[in-house]
Amino acid sequence: MSTMSMAPTLGRNMLLDAARAAARHAYAPYSNFAVGAAVLTSTGQIFTGCNVENAAYGSTLCAERGAVMAMVAAGFREIDTVAVIGPDGPCWPCGACRQVLAEFGCRRVLVEGHEVAFAELLPHAFGPTP
Ligand code: THU
Repeated sequence: MSTMSMAPTLGRNMLLDAARAAARHAYAPYSNFAVGAAVLTSTGQIFTGCNVENAAYGSTLCAERGAVMAMVAAGFREIDTVAVIGPDGPCWPCGACRQVLAEFGCRRVLVEGHEVAFAELLPHAFGPTP
């Protein structure tokens, strides 16, 4: 875990770099598609994750959800930004990860060459309160 409080551009690059570093630990022998993710909490902590595949393919976990699980296990529940790095250009979070990111209030998404509001990725997100 680390904290982040610096100029916005530097902060964005730092979060993408953290995702890139996590991608190096990806366990993706089946797809050969290594992904890294980093979530920045609303209070400045960074948590990372990588995809971890399994011989029973459905047991695979995406990088983004790995990062969110690490965040929650450390006692944090509010995501400001998620950064994702894939092997080949912009890697947008899958639908399941979008739903999990929404649960913890994610506001912003960074992928290579793009920065978008989370609501653009998951408009009308499902939640218990309308
Ligand atoms: N994957 C992620 O980790 N995050 C994404 O946003 C898209 C897909 C992983 C799942 C699987 O291990 C591999 O990439 C190929 O789908």
